[in-house]
Amino acid sequence: MFPIVRPRRLRRHPRLRDLVRETSLSPNDFILPLFVRHGVNQDIPIQSMPGHRQLSVDRLPAEIKEIESLGIPAVILFGIPEHKDAVGSDAYSDDGIIQQAIRAIKDVSPDLLVITDVCFCEFTDHGHCGILNDDTGIVDVDNDATLEILQKEAISHAEAGADMIAPSGMIDGMIEALRTALDENGFEHLPIMSYAAKYCSAFYGPFRDAAESSPQSGNRMTYQMDPANGNEALREVELDVLEGADILMVKPALSYLDIIRRVKEAHPELPLAAYNVSGEYSMVKAAAANGWIDEQRVALEILTSIKRAGADIIITYFAKDAARWLSE
Ligand code: PBG
Repeated sequence: MFPIVRPRRLRRHPRLRDLVRETSLSPNDFILPLFVRHGVNQDIPIQSMPGHRQLSVDRLPAEIKEIESLGIPAVILFGIPEHKDAVGSDAYSDDGIIQQAIRAIKDVSPDLLVITDVCFCEFTDHGHCGILNDDTGIVDVDNDATLEILQKEAISHAEAGADMIAPSGMIDGMIEALRTALDENGFEHLPIMSYAAKYCSAFYGPFRDAAESSPQSGNRMTYQMDPANGNEALREVELDVLEGADILMVKPALSYLDIIRRVKEAHPELPLAAYNVSGEYSMVKAAAANGWIDEQRVALEILTSIKRAGADIIITYFAKDAARWLSE
């Protein structure tokens, strides 16, 4: 008969464990979200997201230098404008908060990748991700009217110097509309990272405090995906691939590891990002602050699981901490 099979042989020596480890993390995997607010000399801690702040544009350079020194390759920007209106016009203004932030970052760190979230919820007074109308009898985001302002927003980010745009509104046809607009305006070289499968998730709660972007009425179920659906994610992803997305994204990450795996298997030819969202971060921070879990081990385990599931890139509020931990 066979001798007893002993998988533990490979676990006894720490160097051997290192040798056979299947998944590893590096600061190169991370994109750090940043919240930029209007005003001067503003550094406002976000209560529900310990370690994160809203910074005014003049306070960005120091932060950016630190991010670069940690070896983090990219940031994704979210803006809190001074004025909100029904169509989110600050989002496509040459002097909008995001456009100012891009220029300020490029001034101090031309090599850091600057990615912009292309959406309207932080810029509209009603807090929805596009233009609202009630033509169909319910108040809802007008898909095609929103595509037009999304195009303006993307061009304006590109002109300000963004390296990649990341549309997050779950508007039908948004990738095709943005690809066309970028190409027609001389930005054929600019990639699109699509929030391809974005769910209507309660895990965005702390972010909406941070970005001041909660819908004033209703919810986002008419555009973001139902958390109960998995097959539908493949349909959303398929469309974005056909429309020309360069990088796909699944969001949130932790309750959607199955979706990450399925999207990677359906499209191994495209890089896949996962967004480890605000609620996923805040839960760890809160438990750690109570002494209930080991923050470093839990956070690294979460990030490893997202990568093991199939993500190549992780957008995470842990990026700075994790980069430090990984270099220890
Ligand atoms: C929309 C957007 C949201 C997040 C990123 N982009 C919020 C939403 O859809 O309501 C959430 C990110 C997070 O929770 O960390 N522009």
